[in-house]
Amino acid sequence: MSDLISLRNFSFSFPEKEIFTDLELEIPLEGVNLLSGINGSGKSTFCRLLLALQTGYRGGLLFNNRDISSVDTQSLAAEIIYLKQPSSLNLLAATPWLDLVVWASGFGSNQYNRADIDEALDFFDLLSYKDKPVWELSEGQRQGVALAALLLNRQKVWLLDEPAAGLDNIRQKKLKKLILEQGKQKGVLIISHRYDLFADISDNIYEIKDKSILLRK
Ligand SMILES: Nc1ncnc2c1ncn2[C@@H]1O[C@H](COP(=O)(O)OP(=O)(O)OP(=O)(O)O)[C@@H](O)[C@H]1O
Ligand SMILES: [Mg+2]
Repeated sequence: MSDLISLRNFSFSFPEKEIFTDLELEIPLEGVNLLSGINGSGKSTFCRLLLALQTGYRGGLLFNNRDISSVDTQSLAAEIIYLKQPSSLNLLAATPWLDLVVWASGFGSNQYNRADIDEALDFFDLLSYKDKPVWELSEGQRQGVALAALLLNRQKVWLLDEPAAGLDNIRQKKLKKLILEQGKQKGVLIISHRYDLFADISDNIYEIKDKSILLRK
């Protein structure tokens, strides 16, 4: 059975801005799904609400029929990997290698497979940068490190906020290939204004418009 996001009479506002009003929608996460929308429409806010990093919504927001407000964030993190916007928010350690060690060892154990980390870094051509401080990497390289962590989290649903940010054409193609592969095993939800880039690989396309989320395809 595929993973499922359910919105029931769901509304959310910041003090000075209404973002979502009375949404009634199910978003099955099988295959590749795209949630699009213009700048400021509420895409990143939706990610944060789903991961319980933003509270204060009204109505129901459920992941696999469990209300987000009553699920602990650690158990959500075991099921969903969330690529944040901007890339620097995803970096957990001082170098690409150490960052991926954290992911590969499952946050704390000392057991990890070096070959898995090498393979993940190599996918985004980052092997020669693996011991560089992350603050010396370019924006696209930092995004590459964050994306490499996805390769160590294939058992989870991928929630990707603007995954192509900072990537050149070659890396955008690699990313799309990776997302397609993952969509065959587990659900992916891409959150992006780059409709042009991701529409062709998406099975379902949703759009945030006028404080609502509409199914476009
Ligand atoms: N913590 C906050 N407090 C108040 N308003 C906020 C907060 N975070 C976001 N907003 C506002 O909510 C709206 C939605 O922001 P959000 O970051 O979700 O947009 P987005 O669709 O992800 O945009 P982008 O395409 O630029 O990434 C914006 O108008 C923003 O100014
Ligand atoms: Mg955003």
